[in-house]
Order: sequence, then structure tokens, then C-alpha cells
Amino acid sequence: MQIMFTACELGVFDLLLESGDTLTSTAIAERLGTSRVGMERLLEACVGLKLLRMERKNNEGFYGNTDLANLCLAKSSPKSQYQYMKLYSELVYPSLQEGNNQIQSMFRTSEKDLFKAINSSKEEQQRFSNGMDDAWSLYGEEVMSAWDFSCFHVVCDLGGGSDALAKKYISLYPNSKVTIFDLPEVVERAKSLVSSEEQQIAFQSGDFFNDPVPEADLYILARILHAWDDEKCLTLLTKLHKACKPGTCP
Ligand SMILES: C[S@@+](CC[C@H](N)C(=O)[O-])C[C@H]1O[C@@H](n2cnc3c(N)ncnc32)[C@H](O)[C@@H]1O
Repeated sequence: MQIMFTACELGVFDLLLESGDTLTSTAIAERLGTSRVGMERLLEACVGLKLLRMERKNNEGFYGNTDLANLCLAKSSPKSQYQYMKLYSELVYPSLQEGNNQIQSMFRTSEKDLFKAINSSKEEQQRFSNGMDDAWSLYGEEVMSAWDFSCFHVVCDLGGGSDALAKKYISLYPNSKVTIFDLPEVVERAKSLVSSEEQQIAFQSGDFFNDPVPEADLYILARILHAWDDEKCLTLLTKLHKACKPGTCP
């Protein structure tokens, strides 16, 4: 992960996409202002990970992006996963390495609750949201069309975070309305970023464990349950089971 992120952060994949041609390690190091030897090692590691390809011409190595790098690693790609990777590199990777919770050191806070730490500043909120949203730009459409949800018109995206998934949903199912339900600080931020002309997306703030959830035909729980223990998951799922009206979708 660190190899991939270092190459990403230095702009290797962007340079190779923009150049539209393969380049030598010396040319890449010069254009990006890095050490030549260091760059050569990094590029070789990226070839080993199949992020780059290398071809030899006149005994010299020329490097180019693989299709995967063009799609997911170049920052300018509409499906770029750069922000997601950044989040993992900065937050998840150190936890794996050190084997303990990184919330307090990562967010420079005494807060132990992940979501409170994320919401402790606008910058952290933005960083987390950007990371989460990248995933939907890559596979949101595939996930939302894996089943035919067209009979569900009133949808609630619980812990939706932003409108990234809701937008995919209404583009596939134009006769629907999606309410994004999330913590007040998250809703406040997400709301401020949505165009006022957007009629099919609404927001409601609250705590899904303690407050009533909006009425809906379909509840989406995307990347929610993994964060809680079985008891909490059962509480939430029981609440949704009671809230779901039967017979909406034949
Ligand atoms: C891992 S993120 C997933 C965001 C979004 N569903 C996605 O997949 O992109 C978890 C979301 O749950 C929200 N959340 C956490 N605890 C919550 C609670 N008690 N009530 C409502 N939302 C909560 C967080 O603010 C965050 O937006």
C-alpha cells in the first residue's frame, strides 16, 4: 500500500497518463524532482505490483501506466481512488503496523470515538468524506444496479455521509426520493454541498441508535454494520425491521 501511495502522492501515475507515452526512470525523476535511484526502485516495485508496465528499448527501461493505474490511481481520472487510498494510508495502515488504535494520534484529539474524532474538524470531515465518496464513483452504479430497486421509491440511506450514493440511486431510479440520515455535524456539512435545485435528495439528522429513523420502503446500510458489535447491529436491524412497511415491492 505504501508503495502505491508513494507513487500516487509523487504524481507518477498522473505524469504517465498526461505524457501519453512511456518514460524512462531518469525522465520521470527529473520531471517530478526526485532522486533518480529512488525513483527507479519505486518504479520497479510498481511494476512488480502490476501498477506499471515496463518495456525495454535499446537496453533502457521505459515505464507506462497499466489500465488499472489510468483508471484508479491517476488523480484526474473520474474514478480515481486517490482520496480513499490516502485515507487508508494515513489511518488504517499505521493501525495495522502498530497494532493499536490510531484515532487519538491521527486526529490529534483525546476523543476515542471514531466518528466524534472525524467530526472534530471540517478538514477531517472532508478528508473522510472524500475517501468514502471515491468508492461510489468507482462501483456505485454497479452496486445499485446489481438488483432492480425500481419498485422502491422512498429510500433512506442510513449513515449515508454524503449524497454520493444517493445521486447514483436517483440517476438509476428517477422516480425515487432518497433521505440521507446521519449525525447532525455530518448532515450540516453534506447539506451545504448539495445544490438547492436537487429535489429528490433530502437530509435528516439524528443518531440511528437513539432517534426515530425516517419512514422508507428501502433502507440502505452501506459500510455501517462493520463498525459495531453484534449487539448494536442487532438493535439497529431490529429497529429497521419494525420500521419497514411490508408489501412495497412485489
Ligand atoms: C463508514 S461511514 C459510511 C458512509 C456511507 N454510508 C458510505 O458508505 O459512503 C459511516 C457513516 O455512519 C455515520 N454514523 C456513525 N454513527 C452514527 C449514528 N449513531 N447515527 C447516524 N449516523 C452515524 C457516520 O457519520 C458516517 O457518515
